[in-house]
Amino acid sequence: MLSLFLFQISLNRMIKTLSATNYSIEIGPLTESSFQDLLTNKYAHSRKVIMVDENTHDNCLEFLLTAFDDLTDAEVILLPAGEENKVMEVCFQVWNALSDYGIGRNDLVINLGGGVVTDMGGFIAAVFKRGVDFVNIPTSLLGMVDASIGGKTGIDLGAFKNQLGVFKDPVAIFIDPSFLHSLPENEVWNGFAEILKHSLIADSSLWAKIKNYRNIDDLYTADLIEAGISIKLKTLLNDPFEKGERKLLNFGHTIGHAIEGCMLETDSPVSHGHAVAIGLLLESQLSNNRGILSNEEFKEIEETIKALYSPIELDEEQIAIVLELMKNDKKNSEGKIKGILIHSIGHCTFDEVFEEEEIRKIL
Ligand SMILES: NC(=O)c1ccc[n+]([C@@H]2O[C@H](COP(=O)([O-])OP(=O)(O)OC[C@H]3O[C@@H](n4cnc5c(N)ncnc54)[C@H](O)[C@@H]3O)[C@@H](O)[C@H]2O)c1
Repeated sequence: MLSLFLFQISLNRMIKTLSATNYSIEIGPLTESSFQDLLTNKYAHSRKVIMVDENTHDNCLEFLLTAFDDLTDAEVILLPAGEENKVMEVCFQVWNALSDYGIGRNDLVINLGGGVVTDMGGFIAAVFKRGVDFVNIPTSLLGMVDASIGGKTGIDLGAFKNQLGVFKDPVAIFIDPSFLHSLPENEVWNGFAEILKHSLIADSSLWAKIKNYRNIDDLYTADLIEAGISIKLKTLLNDPFEKGERKLLNFGHTIGHAIEGCMLETDSPVSHGHAVAIGLLLESQLSNNRGILSNEEFKEIEETIKALYSPIELDEEQIAIVLELMKNDKKNSEGKIKGILIHSIGHCTFDEVFEEEEIRKIL
């Protein structure tokens, strides 16, 4: 796992490299990145498998196949799109396909997609034959600033989010913002929720800069992506396996994951980023109700979230389900619901006990 980060800028390329001891994260045009070097050198004699979902198959795959001759013979595995398909049944089918293709430990999996593809593709690769190397090429904003980074791979188990998974780092991550141009606008805003989260837990000046972003064009810049990633990397630095401060990255997720899980099997599923945005608002409300977060800063957070994300209606039965799901959250211990509270913008604490009644009231 990553343990030490060095931030550096490659001057000879249009690429910014954020490097960890185990792997690097390159931001910029994929054709300018070291992806080609990997294909030509380290994996010259390896079989390549590209994981895509239906949307990245239609919008991103052709570019990859056209730009990199070494991928002409790659096997392409088409995953069904959507969170509801981040499940074991799909993994079984893919593992069978990998066996049929004769994929071995020296081969390479390339995950080309949003957080669902990088989470599930990473898990599939990490478990197959005790581990096949994989690279992540995230194509959604959420994938670029969060899901593809940090070595968490996994799938859902019923309504329980990410219940099955392993920590396994990719060989490298290549972030090319030009993939965002085919991403639907609402998905771009969903990814922005994780950048808002990163600023709320660790960077009040970033929050001040982005809280009034209302124009989608503001979200396509490499600078914003780099700012979001840098906070995640710093938080991971001392805690790759989430024993302590990495838990801060779950701000908004205790309630957000439960809402996402509850709505997953309904006719109106809620995307991860949208659920996180609502979770940020509700966990800020919790902090404000306890007198930890000032009224002034709570209002700021409330205004930003309400301006960008629509409310999610929950009936009494769904509120009961959300509370049940929260009782099974991975961050819980000693039989208590535990989450993150915000004290001021840029400063949060983890392992805080959430009382069932106060959550019910807020929901
Ligand atoms: N591992 C982690 O640390 C981590 C962190 C945060 C989130 N996640 C996970 O990430 C997932 C959410 O990620 P997401 O929001 O990217 O969801 P997603 O992968 O479902 O992508 C959202 C939608 O956009 C489509 N899409 C992606 N890239 C596209 C492109 N360039 N053009 C057109 N369509 C495109 C997808 O097909 C999908 O329909 C959740 O499962 C969440 O649990 C994981």
